[in-house]
Amino acid sequence: MKKRISVLTGVLAGVLAGAVALTAGTAQAIVGGSRASTKDLPHLLMLLDARGQQYCAAALIAPDAAVTAAHCLLKKDVSTLTVVAGRDDKRSTAGSIAKIASAAVHPDFTGTTGGHDVAVLHLAAPLTGYRTVPLARRGSAPAPGAGATVAGWGDTDPGDQGTRYLMKATVPVVAPKTCATWYPSFREGLMTCAGYEQGGADTCKGDSGAPLVVQGALVGLASWGEGCGQARRPGVYTSLGHPAVHDFVTRQVPGSR
Ligand code: ARG
Repeated sequence: MKKRISVLTGVLAGVLAGAVALTAGTAQAIVGGSRASTKDLPHLLMLLDARGQQYCAAALIAPDAAVTAAHCLLKKDVSTLTVVAGRDDKRSTAGSIAKIASAAVHPDFTGTTGGHDVAVLHLAAPLTGYRTVPLARRGSAPAPGAGATVAGWGDTDPGDQGTRYLMKATVPVVAPKTCATWYPSFREGLMTCAGYEQGGADTCKGDSGAPLVVQGALVGLASWGEGCGQARRPGVYTSLGHPAVHDFVTRQVPGSR
């Protein structure tokens, strides 16, 4: 439905963004992104599985604590996971690695689209020399239209193998009421959605847990979306400013704000 409109606006978006021309509502990298460096995003961590493969992202909020999406821990033995700071290239050994001593999943998390998709990772040793990102103020929500930055190593096209190099994109925050009309399961407040109405720039598979930053504050963590970069199907992020999320994180990590 509405296929013709989404294709037309999608192409227009690509032209406006100066990016690749879009076909049928899908696009390129993080999806619609460009190369980035952890030097400019020092709080951004890779989350690696037991085999050392990157499969999610996380954000450093204290020297020895990070936040990620709760669904990144489903069916995982936390003691086998590691986070890496300061590494842009998945195939390099740059940066610092830390084991995870323990993790806490939000007690109200039941599944990705149910909300509360947040977990705190307590690191076995501090990652020193990397900046932490401050949490959005408790009770705050980013202004609709605000430019949000998101970065990760996930798919640049739905179904590809993710990118070797870190990619980032800037996406506008969508008004919660609007997002609720696009996604029946969107929960205003607990979730924040960001993306262009016409699609084109988005997080994708492998970007889960990636920090969404507005004006230097952590407002969200990549959680879910229908497809990637499609018109009226923006990325949905766990809202760090929501009291239920903020309180969980600050209780786990008293040093964070
Ligand atoms: N669930 C995905 C992951 O596991 C993140 C999906 C975000 N999707 C989107 N269209 N923004 O990595």
